[in-house]
Amino acid sequence: MADLLREIGTVGTDPARGGYSRPGYSDAELTLREWFVDHAGRRGLDVDADRNGIVWAWWNPTGGPLHDAVVTGSHLDSVPGGGAFDGPLGVASALVAVDRLQAAGVRPARPLGLAVFPEEEGSRFGVACLGSRLLTGDIAPERAAALADPDGVTFAEAAARHGLDPRHLGRDRAALDRIGLFVELHVEQGRGLIDLDRPVAVATSILGHGRWRLTVTGQGNHAGTTLMGDRRDPLVAAAAMVTTVRDIAAAVPDARATVGRLQPVPGGTNVIASAVHLWLDARHPDDAVTADVVAAVHDRARSIAAAEGCAVQLVEESRSPTVHLDRALRDRLSGILPDAPLLATGAGHDAGVLSAHVPAGMLFVRNPTGVSHAPAEHVEDADAESGADALAAVLLDLLTAST
Ligand code: HGY
Ligand code: MN
Ligand code: MN
Repeated sequence: MADLLREIGTVGTDPARGGYSRPGYSDAELTLREWFVDHAGRRGLDVDADRNGIVWAWWNPTGGPLHDAVVTGSHLDSVPGGGAFDGPLGVASALVAVDRLQAAGVRPARPLGLAVFPEEEGSRFGVACLGSRLLTGDIAPERAAALADPDGVTFAEAAARHGLDPRHLGRDRAALDRIGLFVELHVEQGRGLIDLDRPVAVATSILGHGRWRLTVTGQGNHAGTTLMGDRRDPLVAAAAMVTTVRDIAAAVPDARATVGRLQPVPGGTNVIASAVHLWLDARHPDDAVTADVVAAVHDRARSIAAAEGCAVQLVEESRSPTVHLDRALRDRLSGILPDAPLLATGAGHDAGVLSAHVPAGMLFVRNPTGVSHAPAEHVEDADAESGADALAAVLLDLLTAST
């Protein structure tokens, strides 16, 4: 595992932010896809990329139809300044699990698919799990195609540059029908396994999460000639909204709400902004409570904007309900891994999107810092091996057991 991950250790490093910046369809992410395709080929897997940009690698020694397959995998894109393991750990573990099974002479009774989903973080085009949402029909292809990155490049344009025909984006019934069940291994993005002192956990649920864009508009003007009493400064209003988001979420048990991205327009040092875009990430186990938190933020934002002579608009960009993963599959994973505790996650995953369509499960691997979406994210080599072993054990059972 360490050797595999070391091979990509310098791809997409971000000296300005620290960590890695590997947005969807960036050179860095495409280099990682090529790395995956090369390793899949070396293992004799049949590789193809589908019309939504998902890369599949198949191990199907029986030569039977690609149906009712066991699929595992994850993503290779990252958040800006992200860690080394969020996504790649699951992909590398899938490759190493195949090594373990092939070395043991295992003959799968059903196909095994390894999948790499594009734009899981939604860091470039704004919608989390864009690839798995397209596959499942969870997002309209026209909306996906029109999503634009901060430079105005649409998903259609970016995907077309890499061989996708935007007219063919969308729900892929045939690809979904190939999947009998999906198991994703992922670095834990919290402290659960540190406190439980175990290397691997079986996932129970995925916290619902959404993203909303707030746009505050005021009067752009000169920083030197505009008296303080004559201003309608949207950046002042936005600053109050950021702390209000924190105050509202802090008052609701188990709610999380974050403004991690704020963009003044035009963004000049000697310029009073004319507008500010800020993005709200809000989450709670109960989807209705998430909606209440967002509504409260919107209400307070309106009065804050009005007090500054500004206006504010809120637009939903992405939303996923809380997911309780398939109980039968979860129990089966626990049966195979009796020492692995059960753990919920506050982070979103493609497994969460797929779980509405096929039985989906997850394994988490200990992260000794408990930090994620930051360079401090870490997995010890021994735990990475334990994760790959756990995934191999799970795949062995799922690929060979008669049930
Ligand atoms: O945002 C998330 O929870 C995930 O890391 N995409
Ligand atoms: Mn992830
Ligand atoms: Mn992530």
